[in-house]
Amino acid sequence: MYGHTREKIIVTKNDSRLNPVMKELRNTPMVVAHRGFSGKAPENTIAAFTMALEAGVSMIELDVQVSKDNHVVVIHDPTIDRTTDGEGKVSELTLAELKKLDAGSWFHVKYKDERIPTLVEALELIAPNALINIELKSTRIIRKADTHIADATVEVVRKMDLLERVLFSSFNHKLMKYIKEQEPTAHTGVIFHPVLHFGRMPSALARPAGAEVFVCSKHEVTRRRITDAAKHNIIIGVYGLENQQDIERMLTSGIQVLVSDYPDVIKQGLEKFQVHKAS
Ligand code: G3P
Ligand code: MG
Repeated sequence: MYGHTREKIIVTKNDSRLNPVMKELRNTPMVVAHRGFSGKAPENTIAAFTMALEAGVSMIELDVQVSKDNHVVVIHDPTIDRTTDGEGKVSELTLAELKKLDAGSWFHVKYKDERIPTLVEALELIAPNALINIELKSTRIIRKADTHIADATVEVVRKMDLLERVLFSSFNHKLMKYIKEQEPTAHTGVIFHPVLHFGRMPSALARPAGAEVFVCSKHEVTRRRITDAAKHNIIIGVYGLENQQDIERMLTSGIQVLVSDYPDVIKQGLEKFQVHKAS
């Protein structure tokens, strides 16, 4: 068992999980573990990433913020309140302070030893085995580019030579535009926000940012959005998928990037759908 040993999963050279990110996103249905296997382990922890890798996902989505001393750390909320035993803003705590926190007990006591991972730690574990979707959580005003988080995150990915294996995404589309300007080889996605982007089509959001991918929740998938994205060669990724009905709706609509807290359910559903189609 792979468990918490952090050994590399053995993948063969032609394993699709080692392909560049855009090749995978364009070619085949893809299961993406949202915040790791967050349905079964505390979100955005090494335990959740390990479990997602064991489930054989193609990609893991994770959220990043920047600590007071400029380390990129993996955590969803701007504060540590919900997912650790501490209180306060991520941006006002040093990495040493963040590392003292228990990031697992809120989910289940058996995860009490989980810590907030740095982006480097998460990438070291995931990158040899799966692609990565790094969602930048902008702590500043969402309409402005928080260049600090973008610079810090891209620097980590660049230094680890992983630009080909990463999809950057954000609700803050200015941030995606900025990343593309600074690093044209980076792959980016814009996430749809129902209030900020009300009524806007994928092309109207992705093209000004230079993004290849449009991400929305399952409730925001419409025929018009699918047609618009296809016309402009934009890939759609959908999160919030939970069951067979969701999967079938996505696959019959031509949506192939399937994001879920329960990647095992999606994987099984996908296999079932493909077997059914082939027979
Ligand atoms: O990328 C999709 C999804 O992660 C966006 O929402 O709040 O789960 O980060 P959230
Ligand atoms: Mg996210």
